[in-house]
Amino acid sequence: MKVLVVGSGGREHAICTSIRKSSKLEKLYCAPGNAGIAQIAECVPIGVMEFDRIAEFAAEKAVNLVVVAPDDPLAAGLVDVLNEKGIRAFGPNKAAAILEGSKAFSKDLMKKYNIPTAKYENFDDPEKAIEYLKNSKFPIVLKADGLALGKGVLICKDYEEAVAGVKEIMEDKKFGDSGNRMVIEEFMTGREVSVLSFCDGKTIRIMTSAQDHKRAGDGDTGLNTGGMGTFSPSPFYTEEVDAFCKKEIYQKTVDAMSAEGRPFKGVIFFGLMITADGPKVLEYNARFGDPEAQVVLPRMKNDILEIFDACIDGTLDRIELEFEDNAAVCVVLASDGYPVSYQKGFEIKGLDAFEGKDDYFCFHAGSKVSDGKIVTNGGRVLGVTAKGKDLKEARAKAYAATEWIDFDNKYMRHDIGKAIDEA
Ligand code: AMP
Ligand code: GLY
Repeated sequence: MKVLVVGSGGREHAICTSIRKSSKLEKLYCAPGNAGIAQIAECVPIGVMEFDRIAEFAAEKAVNLVVVAPDDPLAAGLVDVLNEKGIRAFGPNKAAAILEGSKAFSKDLMKKYNIPTAKYENFDDPEKAIEYLKNSKFPIVLKADGLALGKGVLICKDYEEAVAGVKEIMEDKKFGDSGNRMVIEEFMTGREVSVLSFCDGKTIRIMTSAQDHKRAGDGDTGLNTGGMGTFSPSPFYTEEVDAFCKKEIYQKTVDAMSAEGRPFKGVIFFGLMITADGPKVLEYNARFGDPEAQVVLPRMKNDILEIFDACIDGTLDRIELEFEDNAAVCVVLASDGYPVSYQKGFEIKGLDAFEGKDDYFCFHAGSKVSDGKIVTNGGRVLGVTAKGKDLKEARAKAYAATEWIDFDNKYMRHDIGKAIDEA
């Protein structure tokens, strides 16, 4: 098979690494990719929102499958554009990607189909939202309806902060048009777990669990980021939690999307909160998580191209997912100052140390080649992943491997997976 992966981050590097293990693979392309992906795929300088160019390239190279990884092109309908031109693509079409693209949609879906989630109301008028806040309990959670690079969520400790939040989202349009509508929802407490799944419109297959660390600083302090590290599996995702979610959340979500005339084919990422009242859905994403994919995919034994095909063809019921009986930890090496402002263009040294080591991966998130050298090119630069017999061993190995890499302004958290010790 000739395969084109669309995207340029650590997630896409992890997806390309899995695809490279498939016996079905003949040629791998990535648009636009990065310096790490370029070592295992042919990167083409086409942006993820350049739909016509992606389709032209796929047709010209007789690509058999396009894998659309990021949220923006999924929500904007890249899969539809490709399918209209007769090109096979993995990922939800626009109608199904709304599961992530509109929080108001996903909350209404959960309410209608009785899927456990936080209590909420949707608003398209800031005055009504402020009126509602007058009788609310605090803290409370405000969410811009649309995609906002994972940043459109505000947790407000009191009425004044919440009113300021409504103004930021709906009037100042801090998150652009994503804030034309908003969700106000109950604040939940508990452990967060990320569960990724494959869906073919009818059948859902659950991958192993993971947990993300979203805040920039040690001890979960500082600003929210795209994710500073992950570990898999999550010790908080017990058999009991799994059984509950299988009964009340996963299949119900797939069936709800079909019933709405939006059959979901692709990856559904369930952001769960394990509350005292049981697991509840925090959010849905319509794609692999990043950096979740960097700990989940290295542990998967299946041929990923067979799964992609089964999701498209509606034959996922014939596949059982298999994961290694081990653990993985990913520590993100970022540029100091991320997520606010940071410098780029510093040479990354030490990458060779990962060569030939099966248990270690260095996924590139923001890197490029400049004057023949690999240099930093983003806030999140690398995802250093290691596998071990258990989480403790994986964690020790991942942190040891972060020392192999050197670049100016290298920044990381030192407590990725620390929650493991409390489980
Ligand atoms: P989301 O983009 O919806 O996942 O929200 C980003 C983060 O905000 C989540 O990972 C949670 O840490 C937090 N969050 C979102 N909704 C809630 C909620 N209802 N209660 C508590 N925390 C929340
Ligand atoms: N790591 C969270 C996400 O991919 O949205």
